[in-house]
Amino acid sequence: MNTPTTRTRDGADTEWWREAVIYQIYPRSFADSDGDGIGDLPGIIARLDHLVALGVDALWLSPFYPSPQADAGYDVADYRDVEPIFGRLADADRLITEAHDRGLRVVVDLVPNHTSSAHAWFVEALAAAPGSPARDRYVFRDGRGPDGAEPPNSWRSVFGGPAWTRTDNPDGTPGQWYLHLFDAGQPDLNWDNPQVRDEFVDILRFWLDRGVDGFRVDVAHGLVKQADLADWHYPEETTSGDHVEQPRPPMWDQDGVHEIYRQWRAVLDAYPGEQILVAEAWVQPAERLAAYVRPDEMHQAFNFEYLEAAWSAEAQRTVIERSLAAASAVGAPTTWVLSNHDVLRHATRLALPVGTPRPNGIGTDDPQPDTALGLRRARAATLLMLALPGSAYLYQGEELGLPEHTTLPDEVRQDPTWRRTGHTQRGRDGCRVPIPWEADSPSYGFGPTDASWLPQPPVWAEYALDRQVDVPGSTYEMYRTALRLRHELGLGGGELRWMESPDDVLAFRIGSGAGAEADSGAGSDSDSDSGAREVIVVTNLSAGPVALPPGTELVHASGPLTATGQVPTDVTAWARQRR
Ligand code: GLC
Ligand code: MG
Repeated sequence: MNTPTTRTRDGADTEWWREAVIYQIYPRSFADSDGDGIGDLPGIIARLDHLVALGVDALWLSPFYPSPQADAGYDVADYRDVEPIFGRLADADRLITEAHDRGLRVVVDLVPNHTSSAHAWFVEALAAAPGSPARDRYVFRDGRGPDGAEPPNSWRSVFGGPAWTRTDNPDGTPGQWYLHLFDAGQPDLNWDNPQVRDEFVDILRFWLDRGVDGFRVDVAHGLVKQADLADWHYPEETTSGDHVEQPRPPMWDQDGVHEIYRQWRAVLDAYPGEQILVAEAWVQPAERLAAYVRPDEMHQAFNFEYLEAAWSAEAQRTVIERSLAAASAVGAPTTWVLSNHDVLRHATRLALPVGTPRPNGIGTDDPQPDTALGLRRARAATLLMLALPGSAYLYQGEELGLPEHTTLPDEVRQDPTWRRTGHTQRGRDGCRVPIPWEADSPSYGFGPTDASWLPQPPVWAEYALDRQVDVPGSTYEMYRTALRLRHELGLGGGELRWMESPDDVLAFRIGSGAGAEADSGAGSDSDSDSGAREVIVVTNLSAGPVALPPGTELVHASGPLTATGQVPTDVTAWARQRR
């Protein structure tokens, strides 16, 4: 039984989310119960004990709602039900109960920026006349040019191509255009419309009533657009990696979004217990992101600046300091994240030359990353992350050290990015491949048959969970030990203090402080009542090995130390003061 750190003995909540480790489940690719090759809710339920053994506090589920799957479920046709390929509403209820029985909290995904084009509202809007109330729930506009044949403005879809699609009138003549910042199957809602606001409050209540512990809010920085829908001149991509000050685009991070989250916070606060809102907002700099987690708004925001930071001591240290400062200025915990269903898995990303901009997918004809180097750095990055104060997010499969699938045949790709960019960007399928549980089973234990909606590469066998359990030094055991220590030592609630260190080496102390220096020589062998509650973290990003600080002994490491007990390149070590 896994008891979240911050749940007190009488069962009361004390801001559990501030230091929680939250595990992202991508339902299509986690576990398939019925052999159709697509993961499902009963599959997840059957594998919940894995999360308990791993030692996480909560899980976040990517969307499982009815959907044509134009964007793998981020195109929601009905916010109050379950997509039949994933199960039934009763399965969602059972999943929540079974997770709670194991001490795991459940965060669900909420997609408020857009619906599916199959949503009843959009179907109604298409059938209705321009200017009608049904159309006002979305962003319909007349086109430009003499016969309205040009899109209403210059905005582009995140997945490539224009952000507008022209509709046909009921009589077959060309009609108005509608806005979609993502796929054409994901029309943007009009958040100035009070019905839209009311609907989402109701959807929040629907899931809160079913017992969820929070919502991960998709595209939280996109809901409100600049009222004039002004043209936007897209800046050239910068490759320098420097932070460039740019004017804020008219479709992202508008100040008006905050009012929405203040309303939602009030809805959550009226429920007993502590349910959270987590912003998926690709907003920089950190100070701008921190506005989403002011005391009366959301609880957390994903720290994508951290995810994007280069694998260098300077970049890592800078992003850690900036993130801690920005979040603490508003009294929020920092979050840390290295992988999710939208980005190259970090075991592959970190193998790319340091400072390379993150590619959107890798294909067979691209240079293939060095898997061993990537895994080594990924393990070091993870052990660094899991020592940091605040909340951390893990993405399914990273505990196995899974790399990106970089040789997926292009014809099986399903991310709309591949199609919409005219086959220039591979997109995100490579991080979404069903994960391996058993090396010698069909689909590596993903399901009862060989079926897998994206093909798994043969190398998946060596990453399978059953090849790693109880294997000293395996990635899985590295995660498990790190999570146990983090929990026992209260690292998530600790205070970080940088230490002197050689160039290109990060070193800091982390611990709850209380009793950190006390007890020396007490002769107790219990970790909990001695200076052992403080951990000294060393991440070596330099070219040669470095010594641990004097007087310390090793507690945990992302890889073997040298024969003389030094920390090699691309290894993170956790140590403690020798007693
Ligand atoms: C978020 C999701 C991503 C999805 C997009 C549109 O960025 O994480 O997977 O494609 O929103 O909903
Ligand atoms: Mg299935």
